[in-house]
Amino acid sequence: MASSHLAPNYAPLPVVLAQGKGSWVTDVNGVKYFDALAGYSALNFGHLQPDIVAVAKKQLDTLTLTSRAFGCNLLEPYADALCALSETDMMLPMNSGAEAVETALKGMRKWGHVVKGVAPEDGIIIVADGNFHGRTTTIVSFSTDEDAREGYGPYTPGFKIVPYGDLAAFEAALTPETVGVLLEPIQGEAGVIIPPADYFPGVRTLCDEHHIMFTADEIQSGLGRTGHTFACELTGVKPDLMTLGKALGGGIMPVSAVVGTSEVLGLFTAGTHGSTFGGNPLACAIALKVIELLSTGEYQKRARDLGKTFSARLQGFVDEGLLVAQRSVGLWAGIDLDPRYGTGHDLCVELMKQGVLAKDTHGSTIRLAPPLSTSEEDLHWALDRIEAALRALIGK
Ligand SMILES: Cc1ncc(COP(=O)(O)O)c(C=O)c1O
Repeated sequence: MASSHLAPNYAPLPVVLAQGKGSWVTDVNGVKYFDALAGYSALNFGHLQPDIVAVAKKQLDTLTLTSRAFGCNLLEPYADALCALSETDMMLPMNSGAEAVETALKGMRKWGHVVKGVAPEDGIIIVADGNFHGRTTTIVSFSTDEDAREGYGPYTPGFKIVPYGDLAAFEAALTPETVGVLLEPIQGEAGVIIPPADYFPGVRTLCDEHHIMFTADEIQSGLGRTGHTFACELTGVKPDLMTLGKALGGGIMPVSAVVGTSEVLGLFTAGTHGSTFGGNPLACAIALKVIELLSTGEYQKRARDLGKTFSARLQGFVDEGLLVAQRSVGLWAGIDLDPRYGTGHDLCVELMKQGVLAKDTHGSTIRLAPPLSTSEEDLHWALDRIEAALRALIGK
C-alpha cells in the first residue's frame, strides 16, 4: 500500500477503499465498512447522495470553470442562497476550509486597519488553544499542536492564544489592538470539546463592547452536524463572520466560503483577494443543492433525533466502564478510551476489524461523525460494533 511516490503526511488505517454509498464504503477486497468519520463531516449527506450527484453530473456536461475573470450564471444565485441560509449580508467563495479561514483572517485584519484604525502590523487576532483551523503557514503559526507547527517557522505574528472556554482569560487578553477573534463553536479536532454555555455569549458581548470582529469557524461543526444548520445556533450567538467548508461541497469537491457582515466582506475590493477555482460553476451547482437539502431542516432533525440514541448509547458505554468519557452533540461525538487499554489509534484498528471506520484525534480520543443520512438500524449496528471493539480492547 505504501508508495514511495506519495509524501508521508498522513498515516491512514490499513484499508484501501474503492466504493461508497450512503453510510457504507467497500474496500478493494470487497469488505464493507460503516463510515463513522464521514470525511471529517464533509460527507454529512452520505456517500453519493443521489440529488447532489445528479446536479454535479449535469453541471459536468454544462460548464465547470469560468474563473472570476468572467461571471457565471450560478454564482449569484449561490451567494443569495447561502446568505439566506446563514442570514448574512455577504459571502466570499473559496475552495478548502483553510482558504476560508485565511479569508476571514485577512478580512478581520483589514477591517482592523481600515475601520477600527489599528496601525498596520499591530492588529491582533485572538484564537484558542486546542484550535484546528487548517494547515497553511499562517494557520499553523497559531496552532497549539506541536506536530502541526514544528519545523514550519518562521511563524506569522499577530495572534494571541487563550485557553478555550475561559471567558475571564479571553477578557484579560483584550487590548486596543485586538481586531478579531477566531473560535470553533465546538472544537472538533481537539475531540469534540463543547465550551461552557456562557462562553460564546460572553465573547459576543465583549466583542461588541471592545469593537472586535468575531469569526466562528463552522467548517466542521456547521451544516447540520450538531442538529442545527450552524453550531452557533446552540449558543444563541450570531458571529460577524462564519467560515464554512467540508459538507458545503457535498462530499464531492472542496467548496468553502466566508459568510457574514458586509462591513468586513465589503472591504475586499477587486484584486485584493481571490482564487482561480473559488465560486466555480461546478462548486456553485453542488453547493446550491446542499443548501436546498439543508433548507428543509430534514437533515438537522435527523441529526437531533438520531443524536439522542447516539449519545444515550455512548453514555451507556461510559456508565459500564467501557469509556472514560463521551461528549456528543447531534451526530457528533468525542469518546475517550482509558489510556491503559490503548490509544485512539488502537481503538480505530479494532473498530476497523469490527467493520467500522473512524479516526483518532489525539491520545486516546476518537471522533465519531457518521453521515446524517444514516438509518437508525445502521447506527445501532455501528454502535454494537463500537461496543464489541471496546470490549475486545478492555477484555470485559
Ligand atoms: C474547524 C476546521 N476549520 C478548518 C479546517 C480546514 O479545512 P480544510 O482541510 O478543508 O482546509 C478544518 C478541517 O478539519 C476544521 O475542522
